[in-house]
Amino acid sequence: MKKKILIKFGGSIMTPHLPDSAYIKKFCKFIKKLNKKYRFILVVGGGGVNTIYNETAKKISKVDSEGLDWIGIYASRLNARLLASVLGNKCHPRIITDPTSTLNWKKDFLVGAGWKPGWSTNYVALVLAKKIKADMIITATNTDYVFNKDPNKYKDAKPLKAISWQALREMIGDEWQPRMHAPLDPSAIRFAQKNKMQVINLNGKNIPNLKKAIEEKNFKGTVIS
Ligand SMILES: Nc1ncnc2c1ncn2[C@@H]1O[C@H](COP(=O)(O)OP(=O)(O)OP(=O)(O)O)[C@@H](O)[C@H]1O
Ligand SMILES: [Mg+2]
Repeated sequence: MKKKILIKFGGSIMTPHLPDSAYIKKFCKFIKKLNKKYRFILVVGGGGVNTIYNETAKKISKVDSEGLDWIGIYASRLNARLLASVLGNKCHPRIITDPTSTLNWKKDFLVGAGWKPGWSTNYVALVLAKKIKADMIITATNTDYVFNKDPNKYKDAKPLKAISWQALREMIGDEWQPRMHAPLDPSAIRFAQKNKMQVINLNGKNIPNLKKAIEEKNFKGTVIS
C-alpha cells in the first residue's frame, strides 16, 4: 500500500504574489516522480492572491472579518484548482473543501482548500489528515524552520529542530487573528495537540530537502509533536 503524505501546501510558496509557475511545475514533476510509492494530499493556502484581494477589499470598504475570510477561502480554492488542473488525470477531479465529508478517492493526488470562515487551511489540513489517516503530515511553507519568534521580524530569531505543541501554543497565543502569518494558527495547534499528531514544518521551496523528509532521511525542518 502506498503511504499517504499530507502536505499543507503554503500559499506563500505556490503563489507568493502571483502563481510561481516555475516552482509549481517543479513541484508537480517531483510528486509525480515519487508517486510510485506515495499518494499525496495537498491542502493549499491563499498566499499572495489572498493578500492582494484582501487589501483591495479593505481599500474599498469596511469589510468585516467574515467577508475577508471568504476572500481567503476563495483564494485558496483558486490556487487549489490551478494545482489540481495542472496535475491532470492522476488527481481527484473535485477539490475537497469540507474535510469532514465522506471521501472516496482512488487517484494518487487529492487537493483540498479552505472551508468556512474561522477555519484556516492549516486546520482543514489537520482535520483531513486525521480523517484519511495520513502517514505523514508536512507543512510546506516559506521558512526553513519554526523559529523561537518571527524570523521576518527579528534578525536574532533562532531555528528550532523540535518543539512541543504546548510550547508552540504558548508562542503563537490562543487568539485567532484572520490572515495571521504563523507556522500554524491557534485552532490548528489545539487540534493537533488534542489528537497527539506529529507535523513536520519545512521550507517547501527546497525540494531536495522535502524529498529527504518524505523518505525519512535527515532533513532540515522542525518536528512538532
Ligand atoms: N515563530 C515563527 N517561526 C517561523 N515563521 C513565523 C514565526 N512566527 C511568524 N512566522 C511567519 O509565518 C510566515 C509563514 O506563514 P504564512 O501564513 O505567511 O505562510 P503559509 O502558511 O505558507 O501561506 P498560506 O497561509 O498562504 O498558505 C513566515 O514567513 C513568518 O514570517
Ligand atoms: Mg499561513
